[in-house]
Amino acid sequence: MKTIKIETNVCVCTYAELSEEERRLVDAAKEATSRSYAPYSHFAVGAAALLGNGIVVTGSNQENAAYPSGTCAERTTLFYANSQYPDQPVKTLAIAARNASGFVESPIPPCGACRQVLLETERRYNHLMRILLHSEKEIYCLEGVKSLLPLSFGAEYL
Ligand code: THU
Repeated sequence: MKTIKIETNVCVCTYAELSEEERRLVDAAKEATSRSYAPYSHFAVGAAALLGNGIVVTGSNQENAAYPSGTCAERTTLFYANSQYPDQPVKTLAIAARNASGFVESPIPPCGACRQVLLETERRYNHLMRILLHSEKEIYCLEGVKSLLPLSFGAEYL
């Protein structure tokens, strides 16, 4: 028997330590939370994707009275980006979340289903995606979806 060790590097930084382009992306994700439709959870999530052509696409979580019919901010954003700009890679994705008390105190990681969609987008364009998880205190920066989803399922198994 042996053990396989899987490591993930998460860079923890402040808003001020981000590049100007990344700060703008985080701002766009925060702003996108204002367009969230979350009457059931009251948890507003926003995402902003920086595409290869420099365009920024934003999205937010959209809930439904039939709960599973709703979608997360990350999937709303990536599916919109991929359907509007099918030839553009997603270079960076920023995610922000707000509850009744304001923007979250520690970074909110994407749910499992969103991680799988992030991975598909990364693979589709063969371009490593930088992921910025915002919170008021600190920002987590991840280089590539593998950091969020080790031992992932992908097309190579089909
Ligand atoms: N949510 C997101 O938008 N992204 C995530 O990665 C986690 C959860 C949304 C889904 C639902 O509308 C609300 O947050 C509470 O789960």
